[in-house]
Amino acid sequence: MTTIFHIDSSVRSSGSISRQLTSEFVQKLQAAHAGANVVERDLARHPVPHLSEQMMGAYFTPAAQRSDEQARIVKLSDDLVAELMAADVVVIGAPMYNFSISSTLKAWIDHVARAGLTFKYNEQGQPVGLVQGKKFYIFTSRGGVYSSGPAKSLDFHETYLRGVLGFLGITDVTFVHTEGVAMGEEAVNSALANSRSAMDALIAA
Ligand SMILES: Cc1cc2nc3c(=O)[nH]c(=O)nc-3n(C[C@H](O)[C@H](O)[C@H](O)COP(=O)(O)O)c2cc1C
Repeated sequence: MTTIFHIDSSVRSSGSISRQLTSEFVQKLQAAHAGANVVERDLARHPVPHLSEQMMGAYFTPAAQRSDEQARIVKLSDDLVAELMAADVVVIGAPMYNFSISSTLKAWIDHVARAGLTFKYNEQGQPVGLVQGKKFYIFTSRGGVYSSGPAKSLDFHETYLRGVLGFLGITDVTFVHTEGVAMGEEAVNSALANSRSAMDALIAA
């Protein structure tokens, strides 16, 4: 059975473009994969903690020597890694905040980027991603336009996500950008129409 992992990270509970599109896409994916299981994680409503000294200490303490608190801290990260590893398809809603991803999505990445679990270094010291065989779809929403034009060099959003996901071994990543949503109603409607046709083409493929 296909497992679809649906992650949202917009701080908006209503009016969010990325939430709207991930929700439509997951419904379409579910319809296309009869019996697919959907797992949801809402990083804005239920944020995972930011990295802390305590967390680092817990990760680097051998399992047998961890305190109860350290074991609890590591278990959260282990559970998040297991949730990711169990997915076949991952759908992420990623609004652009200050030219990059939300801090909640970054905090989630900090939990799932784990040496020995999701990446390792080989004998030559090169990184090897251990998250294999997954298809990622990322629905961004952005006030301006970054996929082309003068602001392209300020896209630390797609570039960052491609970089960090690639480091983990995730290379099958498709972005659907809904851009220019701060440029008036017509621009929003046109960007949404483009994203919905991209979505339909992805489902048909
Ligand atoms: C705190 C904050 C920072 C933002 N920073 C940017 C930015 O750097 N560039 C941009 O084009 N839009 C920026 N925006 C606009 C959002 O990307 C846009 O409203 C997007 O639709 C938000 O996603 P959502 O509709 O899913 O909530 C920002 C919005 C907020 C609330």
